[in-house]
Amino acid sequence: MKKTYKKDINMFKKDFPYFQNSNTIYLDNAASTQKPKCVIDSQVEYYEKYCANIHRSSFSHANKATKNYENTRKILKNFINARCIEEIIFTKGVTESINFIASSYAKEFKTVIISSLEHHSNIVPWHMQGRELNRGLEVVSCDDNLNFNMQHFEELLKQNPKSFVSITHISNAFGKIHDIKSIIHLAHKYKAVVMIDAAQSLAHFKVDMQELEVDFFVMSGHKTFAPTGLGAIYIKKEHLKNVQAYQTGGATIHEVDYNSSTLLNSPYKFEAGTQNIVGVIGFSKALEYILSIGYEKIETIENDLYIYLDEELRKLDDIIFYNDINKAIGSRSFNFKNIFHDDIAILLDKMNIALRVGHHCAQPIMKHLNIKGTIRVSLAFYNDKNDIDKLIKALKKALSILKK
Ligand code: ALA
Repeated sequence: MKKTYKKDINMFKKDFPYFQNSNTIYLDNAASTQKPKCVIDSQVEYYEKYCANIHRSSFSHANKATKNYENTRKILKNFINARCIEEIIFTKGVTESINFIASSYAKEFKTVIISSLEHHSNIVPWHMQGRELNRGLEVVSCDDNLNFNMQHFEELLKQNPKSFVSITHISNAFGKIHDIKSIIHLAHKYKAVVMIDAAQSLAHFKVDMQELEVDFFVMSGHKTFAPTGLGAIYIKKEHLKNVQAYQTGGATIHEVDYNSSTLLNSPYKFEAGTQNIVGVIGFSKALEYILSIGYEKIETIENDLYIYLDEELRKLDDIIFYNDINKAIGSRSFNFKNIFHDDIAILLDKMNIALRVGHHCAQPIMKHLNIKGTIRVSLAFYNDKNDIDKLIKALKKALSILKK
């Protein structure tokens, strides 16, 4: 008989089949979150009961698939308080969304400004494009606690008005939260256009497009309890006319003859080829699931847990942190003096603790800190103190083995 772990798990984990089938202490939520049963069921239902392509055929299952796919667009629009559904475009993830905007909109800008804490997906596309356009990249410095240097940002904006600013909301490696509202406000003062990498955001925070007045906002499905291979981008309505289609083909066109093609309006002109239909349908279930719990509750649970994690880690000998927990959430990164993080990961895995070690796709900030990488614990609301206690116990055991 298959082993289940129902007795040990908290009320939220009960919604996630992964925790029913595994005794792994899952602390790698910044890499990808687990999926609730309602999301998994929606995938199975689509494949078993109405599997069909969207926006093309007119038989009833095709219509149902189209309706459910488009319903996610409406749900996401309301979820992030966008103005209209034309502002919501589905992509395969944050990386694709950033590449899309880099090549279809941002080429005209003389300067691109990023923060020191960016993920490679918000650095490498700018390097590749910079090579082609002979354009450099400006990086806003941070202080000893990895806080964004607003003064330096303003200097860069003054020197380079009308820049393209592309900044992460929450650092995947260190959990630092950027004050994106102030960043956007300041950037707009200097006529810059702002894209926010919100890969880590929706799992932790409520966001509001109209309140932020952001220009581009890129979101991940799989880091928000939804299926992999799915993301979305919010494009402020006023920019839609200036964004070129990243790729074209079936479903994007209004009219084609042998000499020319005309495209549909947004969002369809940006969604070429058969989309990740089942992923998009699953995304709506993930968003509804978050709403059923409520961000207020999620934030309270995570804040308490994050403080508890920090307090317990601090009791361990020779631990090294790189930032405080002020204005941080989700990820906590650290090392131990004279211990290689990879060795810790191997031992923790043997004790069923799942977390990520290494540079976390953020090599520049690791180089700035003069380290190869860190041990990263990244939390979601379904984690609990029991998980942290087990982590601490496992870390103590690993350290005792490695220090011998
Ligand atoms: N960006 C993901 C992480 O931080 C993959 O682990």
